[in-house]
Amino acid sequence: MYLISLFCLLAIQLNPNNIPQVVAEMTTEEKVLLLIGDRKQKTTDAGDVGYTLRGVPGAAGMTYAIPRLGIPAIILADGPAGLRINPTRQGDSNTYYCTGFPIGTMLSSTWNTELVGEVGAAMGNEVLEYGVDVLLAPGANIHRNPLCGRNFEYFSEDPVLSGEIAAAYINGVQSQGVGTSLKHFALNNQEVNRLANNVVVSERAMNEIYLKAFEIAVKKSQPWTVMTSYNYINGVHAAENKHLLTDVLRGEWGFAGAVMTDWGGGYRSGAIIEAGNDMIQPGAKKHIEAITKALENNSLSMKALDECVTRVLQLIVKTPTFRKYAFSSKPDLKAHAQTSCKAAEEGIVLLKRGALPYSKNTSIALFGVGSYSFIAGGTGSGDVHKPYVLSLDEGLERSGFALEKGTAEFYGAYMAKERKRCAMIDGQKKPWYIDAERPIEVVPTKQIETASQSVQAAIITITRIAGEGKDRSIEFSYNLTREELQLIDKVSEAFHKQKKAVTVILNVCGVVDVTAWRDKVDDILVCWLPGQDGAVAVGKTLCGEVNPSGRLPMTFTLSYWDVPSAENFPIILPDKPFNYSHYRNFRDGEINSDIPNVDYTNYAEDVFVGYRYFTTKHVKVAYPFGYGLSYTTFNWGKTSVKRTPEGYNVSVEVTNTGKLPGKDVVQVYAKGKSPDSPSLELKGFVKTKLLQSGQSQVVTIFVPSADVPSSYRLVTLRNAQNK
Ligand code: BGC
Repeated sequence: MYLISLFCLLAIQLNPNNIPQVVAEMTTEEKVLLLIGDRKQKTTDAGDVGYTLRGVPGAAGMTYAIPRLGIPAIILADGPAGLRINPTRQGDSNTYYCTGFPIGTMLSSTWNTELVGEVGAAMGNEVLEYGVDVLLAPGANIHRNPLCGRNFEYFSEDPVLSGEIAAAYINGVQSQGVGTSLKHFALNNQEVNRLANNVVVSERAMNEIYLKAFEIAVKKSQPWTVMTSYNYINGVHAAENKHLLTDVLRGEWGFAGAVMTDWGGGYRSGAIIEAGNDMIQPGAKKHIEAITKALENNSLSMKALDECVTRVLQLIVKTPTFRKYAFSSKPDLKAHAQTSCKAAEEGIVLLKRGALPYSKNTSIALFGVGSYSFIAGGTGSGDVHKPYVLSLDEGLERSGFALEKGTAEFYGAYMAKERKRCAMIDGQKKPWYIDAERPIEVVPTKQIETASQSVQAAIITITRIAGEGKDRSIEFSYNLTREELQLIDKVSEAFHKQKKAVTVILNVCGVVDVTAWRDKVDDILVCWLPGQDGAVAVGKTLCGEVNPSGRLPMTFTLSYWDVPSAENFPIILPDKPFNYSHYRNFRDGEINSDIPNVDYTNYAEDVFVGYRYFTTKHVKVAYPFGYGLSYTTFNWGKTSVKRTPEGYNVSVEVTNTGKLPGKDVVQVYAKGKSPDSPSLELKGFVKTKLLQSGQSQVVTIFVPSADVPSSYRLVTLRNAQNK
């Protein structure tokens, strides 16, 4: 012990100004360890290489500590809907819950970068106060196809909206002195065979769509780290992609941080390091051996190793752990719950309006299991251990609505029975609690009729959850089930007979079909998976205390088959059962090319993703990208486009011409005609402040010249419609 302490005193100790000297002092063994995650999570410091200083239970990973050189282990934990750590610890009566914020898709539905920055700051504060150094979020992959199981973690089908929201998120989190990890770089747009799927994509689609969101985020926020994705891109594994990591990310975009692999991603450890991927997470002994071997046989250079070590040390010296920040484990969860609710209020999208808003004491019959068991977030690493999830009935009662008892009682009894059944399913170790297994209730017609006579309105909640490792299915997730459609039919018929309104709340992870049922109901409110207090936001919106101002970050099509990538995506059809465990030979790192959409996915739609396709090819949609209604009306003055040496200032005066205060979103698109380019492309956007009735605001959006294709002009639009 004495000898170790003496050794520590003699060795150089890491500080932000002596990184080259520390690297020079490190043994090869120490360098290799620093690049491999330490999954032991030891809490003691034995003073040896390989022992970590401390751990945060439930964190996803950490680095090795090298105490002799004053290098602490840093802690990495998941997001993106908040910090994901274990809420309780053995032998400790304190709790460590984290705030459940709205999912990424809902944050982008706010179209409010300032608000997303506030959300980021609240999350970052929890990261700091719970002793974590880097939040493994946000995710900036594009919603290429509505069935991708992780779309809910991602922002949008558009790269500008994704990139701007990601930058705001990162700047917010990092304002607290902790880091982020922008993920999954890049083209991780499906979960089926995610470890070995080879994305076949054009250079142009990569640059204009899939990399663009990352480029904007990197340039505007400099995340401390970037996480590579699991998939291959045109035959090269993302984690081993030197061109992407070194030439593009660092060279062209000026990224100054560290890169890490996704958990267990990448095959050849030497190639990962040589590519400029600095950390292999969560790390295993085999990586240490493989890197050592690669150094010995010269397939990995010491220069590349040293560069990665340098970047990891540069990351470490920025962290709260290195600064020895005395974290409290007591973030202000109450204040953060309010921020979470505020974000939910702004992310709710009103798709159809007939009866809303309801007056405060309206009596309501609440249908749908989701009404009593609201879904706050997705599953997998993107889930957060939140202190509570308010259910919709509670949210509505808080807003003064009177709920019809008979329907509530039916659901109470029904759900008690179903919970037993689901406990059985969980008992069989089903990985996630998914839609197909969610209870599907059949409410007795008599109950619906009785309710329609005794209350003033009906609300039906439709829920969809999704999560990592699995894509959604058309039958169980995208389309409404037969029982759900019947419920909408019966409730609408009974309530409309009584001249009473029916509102549908979509408590969903992403796009669902609306074509089959939207004409039957009066109002449709998309409240996504809105975080722990989302039900309060919904209650306030239903009664008009909050005026909806969210806009769709993706298109709702008339049919799944209208989606441009529909054929080039793993589809799970009843007559074509798909084997989810079909992970093809991924361990040997060989690319298979037999099964389309499993072994490889052809991005045949190229740059025509989402609204870029629908507007250019004149395909009718249910609700376009950027769409969302309000309880008030807005008038826009004449748009002025002024050229500056660097670009264009696009201005427009927005006036609230209705009765209620509200916020509007101005979207600037480049519009034009070209045989091989989309006819509309979002170039910028801004959300107004809360405008009182009669109040105006001039908003100005700057668009760099380089972003506007020649012969295209800039226009302000309410949503992506090619009118
Ligand atoms: C996910 C990442 C996550 C990591 C650590 C992986 O399975 O793809 O998004 O950050 O696990 O939990």
